[in-house]
Amino acid sequence: EKGGYPYFMLKEIFEQPDCLLDCMRGRINIDADNVTLSAVIDHKDKLLSASRFIIVACGTSWHAGLIGQQLIENYCRIPVYVEYASEFRYRNPVILPTDVVIAISQSGETADTLAAIELARKQGAFVFGICNSVGASIPRATHTGAYIHVGPEIGVASTKAFTGQVTVLAMLTLALAKARGTISQDEYVKMVRELVAIPEKMKEALKANEQIAQMAKIFTYAHNCLYLGRGYCYPVALEGALKLKEISYIHAEGYPAAEMKHGPIALIDSEMPVFVIATRNGMYEKLISNIQEVKARQGRVIALVTKGDTKIRDLADEVIELPETMECFEPLVVSVPLQLLAYHIAVCKGKDVDQPRNLAKSVTVE
Ligand code: F6R
Repeated sequence: EKGGYPYFMLKEIFEQPDCLLDCMRGRINIDADNVTLSAVIDHKDKLLSASRFIIVACGTSWHAGLIGQQLIENYCRIPVYVEYASEFRYRNPVILPTDVVIAISQSGETADTLAAIELARKQGAFVFGICNSVGASIPRATHTGAYIHVGPEIGVASTKAFTGQVTVLAMLTLALAKARGTISQDEYVKMVRELVAIPEKMKEALKANEQIAQMAKIFTYAHNCLYLGRGYCYPVALEGALKLKEISYIHAEGYPAAEMKHGPIALIDSEMPVFVIATRNGMYEKLISNIQEVKARQGRVIALVTKGDTKIRDLADEVIELPETMECFEPLVVSVPLQLLAYHIAVCKGKDVDQPRNLAKSVTVE
């Protein structure tokens, strides 16, 4: 059932291009350049009149929420707040009847996320779920939603569910932006076409597997790792660090690259691998400065770059090349090598990547 792969996690990483096609099937009509989510058709008034969105989730799903925040704010021009479900439910938050709460959960059973939904409903908010497990408690507790349809995720470390969540958030963004008139037709068509092209780009990103497996051997010694990203890829840095922590038990932190100089830069020495997401987008020049800051302190930089990049190749110790895409979809491509990196480092350390210690697939305790 692992389809020839040694672990479910690796199978699920490699499945992602097909999973995203399943996620988009019936929702994106490529001939008409159109995205439709049935929930957006059925609940158009509620969604279009939302004064703000509040995303509630935990762990990896919360990271997907941070990407959703940037997508929705950027293209739909609605304020979006992202909350840890466990904090939100206990802090007496302001919830308005005009709020739309988006609950994201792979398992659909996370106790804190479910409690956050119940709180939001009690206070009159409309709740939209983004889940994987069909018929689980969270989809039943929401008013409406969109499944990610990536198939069962067995590995405890979430991989394909994360990219599926981001894909649903991207489709939701497109459907809402079009309905609200906050996106030009040209931009809309460009985005729809690029989203459809992502599975092929993920396949290309997966080709780095061998290179990453080799590279991983060097990093098994590390006690600490830093992951840096900016913009849409800042949450990807958080997610990369979480993956490494979970399965390799190496301490890792994700940071917005520019925040490094406000503290964490003190940690950097020649022992510390720093993974920098430095693809060629609006933040490129800024990221080059951030890499120089790390190098000036003898840090070891492994940069994720856009194919053909030469500037960063000269600065970094190692580079992983990735296909180019629109900035807003970079998380879908950049996540792949970071998942592989965590996987191979953990395997090199002899860890059971599918069943990491102390972790459960569904967190039904509070
Ligand atoms: C990380 C991971 C966890 C979950 C979190 C939320 O790999 O799997 O951080 O993302 O426990 O779970 P769901 O999405 O099922 O609510």
